[in-house]
Amino acid sequence: MIADPILAATNLSRAFRLRSGLFAQAQSIQALDGVSVTIAAGEAVGLAGESGSGKSTLAAILLGLDRPDAGNIQLAGRDIVEYGRLARARMIQPVFQDPYSSLNPRHRIHDIIAAPLVIHSLATGGVLSQKVQSIADLVGLGRSMLQRYPHELSGGQRQRVAIARALILEPRIVICDEPTSALDVSVQAQILNLLSDLQSELGLSYLLISHDLAVVSQLCTRAIIMREGKLVEEGSVDRVFGQPQEAYTARLRDAVLEVPSHG
Ligand SMILES: Nc1ncnc2c1ncn2[C@@H]1O[C@H](COP(=O)(O)OP(=O)(O)OP(=O)(O)O)[C@@H](O)[C@H]1O
Ligand SMILES: [Mg+2]
Repeated sequence: MIADPILAATNLSRAFRLRSGLFAQAQSIQALDGVSVTIAAGEAVGLAGESGSGKSTLAAILLGLDRPDAGNIQLAGRDIVEYGRLARARMIQPVFQDPYSSLNPRHRIHDIIAAPLVIHSLATGGVLSQKVQSIADLVGLGRSMLQRYPHELSGGQRQRVAIARALILEPRIVICDEPTSALDVSVQAQILNLLSDLQSELGLSYLLISHDLAVVSQLCTRAIIMREGKLVEEGSVDRVFGQPQEAYTARLRDAVLEVPSHG
């Protein structure tokens, strides 16, 4: 048990109804099935599991982008349903896998990073630009980048933009859903180092979703493993990946270690 968690989700469930044809019986997928998660202030928790195990569904619900059928979420001791949009945005923010599709192609980088401040009328003019410049500095994005458009940036630079936009409201928790999966290996390491530096500088809490257990073990101290909407294993990263209790976890770990042969 974590004494004073920044995030405490209890018994979250979410089903999706699927209808295959006009007269077909509606089928239901239990994407989340009684999942509980806690994250301490300043802690990085990794979430792994096979494709379709419910990781992104959990992320969407924790972010308030989707509602659970059952269960509740406490952020800093208050129920998430009591938060208004701004209060929630100041508490928890996402960084998604593909920085290209999540950045508006017609807006300059400056305006993309500034958007959360503009939408909530929190800053204008010189103060706004000042804040955008300092967050660009923080994530290692050259100031000359601010006048460019997303297509004029590299994948790694675009993910820095997504991180800057997530941080501009100074949230306490960042949910990263496969944040490095779309990037080259060398760039992946830079982004992971950045996330790690930001965690210690800002005292951020992370939920880091990755199918790559190496990514989880680089950034996180605790790991949770999901399968078919359920949490099947939880513990320190060293224990979960070193001595997994579930054969499923061992398979996940070994699958990543298998290097495909070329030629
Ligand atoms: N909007 C939706 N409507 C219907 N089914 C959905 C919806 N979103 C997710 N699902 C289903 O719920 C299950 C969990 O999906 P989810 O996206 O959470 O998996 P995931 O663990 O993030 O997988 P991946 O590693 O491939 O990203 C899957 O079976 C998926 O098909
Ligand atoms: Mg997903």
